[in-house]
Amino acid sequence: MTKILSLPKIILFSFISSVAIILVSAQNYDYARTLDRNLFGLKQEKLTHFRLYWHDILSGSHPTSVQVVAPPPSNSPTTFFGAISMMDDPMTEGPGLNSKLIGRAQGLYGFAAQGELGAIMVMNFVFMEGKYNGSTIAILGRNKVLSDVREMPVVGGSGLFRFARGYVQARTRVLDAKTGDATVEYNVYVLHY
Ligand SMILES: *[C@@H]1O[C@H](CO)[C@@H](O)[C@H](O)[C@H]1NC(C)=O
Repeated sequence: MTKILSLPKIILFSFISSVAIILVSAQNYDYARTLDRNLFGLKQEKLTHFRLYWHDILSGSHPTSVQVVAPPPSNSPTTFFGAISMMDDPMTEGPGLNSKLIGRAQGLYGFAAQGELGAIMVMNFVFMEGKYNGSTIAILGRNKVLSDVREMPVVGGSGLFRFARGYVQARTRVLDAKTGDATVEYNVYVLHY
């Protein structure tokens, strides 16, 4: 014998099925949780200073910096506004290019200022020496190229530089006005664990 469901039963039915839907959608995948930083291996934060010499070589048959976007011809030739270069610049312990290789500066810089020579630098300092080998520091900042000292933020890092923050100061030591080749001293001040 079939029996037509009474109204209270229909209401009960739909209530049960909506509870079931809620139960399914409330399944917990633990996508976010708070970790104990001590158990995560983060001990005392420390401050490290590096002094490195960064070599931007535009000339010769093996340039380490190449222009990948030319500035529009209508722009002032003194600002290079709109130009973008990709670099893989060696960084050495001393000011000479033949000094010990510590790592490479990989990334790009673009000329971002219309009224002066001002670049945006986006680069990773990739360490290749000793305990830092394989670790990186990410730098993102404004480089007013002709100033004596340019400061740029360290925005992060990897490996030994996880959770890094800090800043760099760049000082041009050698600039060949004809080729544009430059050696720049970088002092890096980085907080990390
Ligand atoms: C740095 O690490 C790479 C890859 O693990 C290795 O091939 C290289 O020999 C290391 N360099 C130094 C100087 O330890």
